[in-house]
Amino acid sequence: MSALTELYNEIALCQQCEIAKYRTKVVPGEGAEDADILFIGEAPGWHEDQQGRPFVGPAGKYLDELLASINLKREQVYIANVIKCRPLGNRDPLPIEIHNCRKWLECQIEIIRPKMIVTLGRYSMAMFFPGKSISKIHGTAQKRGNVIYYAMYHPAAALHQQSLRQAIEADMLKIPSFLTQAQNMTEVEPQPQQLKMFEI
Ligand code: URA
Repeated sequence: MSALTELYNEIALCQQCEIAKYRTKVVPGEGAEDADILFIGEAPGWHEDQQGRPFVGPAGKYLDELLASINLKREQVYIANVIKCRPLGNRDPLPIEIHNCRKWLECQIEIIRPKMIVTLGRYSMAMFFPGKSISKIHGTAQKRGNVIYYAMYHPAAALHQQSLRQAIEADMLKIPSFLTQAQNMTEVEPQPQQLKMFEI
């Protein structure tokens, strides 16, 4: 059994949060175990909860189009969320849910060891770029250790707002060059609260 499959089995048993009681399926994440790029969204929505797969609703279709714009299919990357169960009524994730679920994302990062972590939206950005504003840092990358961290708008937000749509499409197009230039990028010092996520 692969390390990710073992992890999925563990995640499926998790009942730490109240929302675990109401889920149809847990949504651990999916993609290549050796992916270079890990995309991290916010939380499963209705479609994801039904299928147990991340980004399979309208935002997911748009994410697929964005990936196609850089000649990637979703099977070639890894797609996960900050939390693995659907918050009721698609409300925002609670701090306690983010806290409880964080260990699963850390395990996924340890197993996949991506070269680049792309945050989609505010909640995943806050984990890797605490205190930053998405309108200021989207489309910019930071290298810490051997990993490039890159913030983008959430596809669901960009889908219906023309200015964000232009931004997310332009930001996606920058990903291949960040990956190829990774060796030459200067590392930045992580802030203390970022250390745990960067020690991989
Ligand atoms: N939005 C997210 O953040 N994640 C999903 O999986 C689907 C929609």
